[in-house]
Amino acid sequence: MSSEQSIKERVQNGEKVEPSDDLPEEYRKAAQRMIQFHANSEIVGTLPEKQWIKKAPSLQRKRAISAKVQDEAGHAQVLYRVAETLGLKSRQEMLDELVEGDSKYVTVFNYPTKTWADAGYIAMFIDGAAMFRQGSLVESSYAPYSRGLRKICYEESFHVKHGEDIVRSLATGSRKEQEMIQDAVDRWYEPTLQFFGPRDHMSDHTDELQEWGLKVKSNDELRQQFLDEFYVPKLEKYGLELPDDKLEYDEDAERWNYSQLDWDHFLDVSRGGGPMNDERLSDRQDALENNDWVRRAAGVA
Ligand SMILES: [Fe+2]
Ligand SMILES: [Fe+2]
Repeated sequence: MSSEQSIKERVQNGEKVEPSDDLPEEYRKAAQRMIQFHANSEIVGTLPEKQWIKKAPSLQRKRAISAKVQDEAGHAQVLYRVAETLGLKSRQEMLDELVEGDSKYVTVFNYPTKTWADAGYIAMFIDGAAMFRQGSLVESSYAPYSRGLRKICYEESFHVKHGEDIVRSLATGSRKEQEMIQDAVDRWYEPTLQFFGPRDHMSDHTDELQEWGLKVKSNDELRQQFLDEFYVPKLEKYGLELPDDKLEYDEDAERWNYSQLDWDHFLDVSRGGGPMNDERLSDRQDALENNDWVRRAAGVA
């Protein structure tokens, strides 16, 4: 039996594989693409919230959001190290590819955070969406990824609580605060649902990732699960509305139906045409340049 067949059989029986196993090149490449995308997303995900550290409305909020942003940088570090175990690229190569625009990250971070409500919204709902995706990926067939995600998921659940506390205080605050959080929901609704990636039929990679057991649920499945189990119930709890006239509960299918999302816009943002793509990459470039002396002093540059 070829190594490809035996690995495929093992992962389809729910077994996990280690970097020391005889992993076929296709497996390593698919895992590399998925884990590098995830690591990039964690590191770019620090940027939209980072600007609110300085402007947080109290010392307690400032401490919580700076700890959260620091956690996300730590997640990126864990994931780049996990990706390195595949033996295809070094951490430095991956960091270079990110600033050069040669590798992707999740599209949702290419939108601006205009108000403090956006910082609360992201922590509650984007990290909430990440919990659904990453929670399912704990079952991924690549053992180092699964182990890394267990730690990451604990921290993500704290991020959601931190975000929910901000959302709760705005939604139960003054009229102006309530308008601010509703405005955040209006602007972030579509990018949030698109966080799960393209529709299943639009993606070239979903089948391959599922065949290798790297991904256990499809983008559309996770999107629907998040909408039904978290997004709609939490927004209802805080008296917030989704900006979709067609949102309706389907009793037979026991799920919320929603309007089709603008996938042309999604693809445009994914290819670099979003409102903040250029700024995110130039921020990363600046961070690399400004911190060069630290890496040199530590002997890693
Ligand atoms: Fe994270
Ligand atoms: Fe997070």
